[in-house]
Amino acid sequence: MTEAHIPQPFTSRPAAPLAGTAAVPGDKSISHRALLIGAIATGRTRVSGLLEGEDVLATAGALRALGVTISREDGATYVIDGAGLSGLAAPSTVLDMGNSGTGARLALGLLATHPLTAQVTGDASLVERPMGRVIEPLARMGATFLAREGTKLPLTVTGARMPVPIQYRLPVPSAQVKSSILLAGLNAPGETTVIEPEATRDHTELMLRHFGADLRVEDAEDGSRTITVVGQPELIAHPVEVPGDPSSAAFATVAALIAPGSAVTLPNIGINALRTCLFVTLREMGADISFANQREVAGEPVADLVVRASALTGVEVPAGRAPSMIDEYPILAVAAAFAEGPTVMKGLAELRVKESDRIAAIAGGLTAIGAAFEEGEDDLTVLGNGRPRGSGNTPVPTHFDHRIAMSFLVAGLGAAGPVTIDDGAAIATSFPCFIELMNGLGADISGADAS
Ligand code: S3P
Repeated sequence: MTEAHIPQPFTSRPAAPLAGTAAVPGDKSISHRALLIGAIATGRTRVSGLLEGEDVLATAGALRALGVTISREDGATYVIDGAGLSGLAAPSTVLDMGNSGTGARLALGLLATHPLTAQVTGDASLVERPMGRVIEPLARMGATFLAREGTKLPLTVTGARMPVPIQYRLPVPSAQVKSSILLAGLNAPGETTVIEPEATRDHTELMLRHFGADLRVEDAEDGSRTITVVGQPELIAHPVEVPGDPSSAAFATVAALIAPGSAVTLPNIGINALRTCLFVTLREMGADISFANQREVAGEPVADLVVRASALTGVEVPAGRAPSMIDEYPILAVAAAFAEGPTVMKGLAELRVKESDRIAAIAGGLTAIGAAFEEGEDDLTVLGNGRPRGSGNTPVPTHFDHRIAMSFLVAGLGAAGPVTIDDGAAIATSFPCFIELMNGLGADISGADAS
């Protein structure tokens, strides 16, 4: 989001049943990793199904500025000519990571152990998000940082000339921080170890193994996980097929559940167990969701999702589930507003530091559509009443947050009346074809007046 940003309001209207099959774009997390790891591998990596969202394209742009050749073939197939481990070159422009916390934090990991200086920035949302969580461990590995207010973008990083491997226990469950340290560890001699108190998405680990890295994972009885990467491996280019993003599939899934009579199929969706707790939770609420044709693609489990409209009942979502559905609380809150009875969501502290303060943003959206809730510091209870009324004359404030925008457009497909959002521009960061895809299934989403 820039200062010259022009808001793009949209309205969704109660729809006929949604029906048919829709191809959800590639997984955002896996797309970032395919670019970043392909960039430091030896040889040519072909990535098919890459997400062509603004976040991922920002990562590609940063890597190009670091001397990596990335070209686009037909469709969403990209070819990366790897610079080799420690082969990144000093950039002559500022690396602008746009809206992407993942792009920024993972790129900082790579930069931290390259002996070069780079400036990194992002949009109005990203420059307010915490970077101390990666600065602190990466500084221990020998990188130096000069950051705005000590821990924020824009910052200047100078990578370590003689990187030091570390053992680091994550203070917050964060796949971004874990991945940042593991990527930094690739250029350090010896073993770099990350201990995570709760397991978070493991796409970095799976992809590093796919490229031939030596990586060990130990699961402890208390649920913590220890990941060790052996530094200075030879990473060999390997083809990557990016599965459909379960976090994007979540929107069409909930739309089909709440628009009466719907039945949709979403082929080729990633079902990594560290990403799919939304589907577990929705099933507990009574959702008819099945995983057909389960298979493995490039080290990641994949299935076709089949979803049918269902009557939902409120449930209690345990705090331990948060890391594996952290991006899905906005759309779960919408589903919960259509359920009978309260849905209690706990352990949401990390939502306060996402693309927006997502607990506050969800609360604002629920208020606008007439759904009752109780907001705590790190929990949220949605008091389902079956069918919210819609937003009337009060557009949902989206705070330039893609997941808030998409969640409340979905709400309009099942509500008693239309839902207008103040700005859908951020949707392009993760799901550029969202409106076309939803309308292709029978939804009614169109541009609107802001007031
Ligand atoms: C991501 C990890 C999550 C998630 C983000 C993508 C990743 O962030 O919210 O959208 O690709 O590693 P945290 O790891 O900071 O919770």
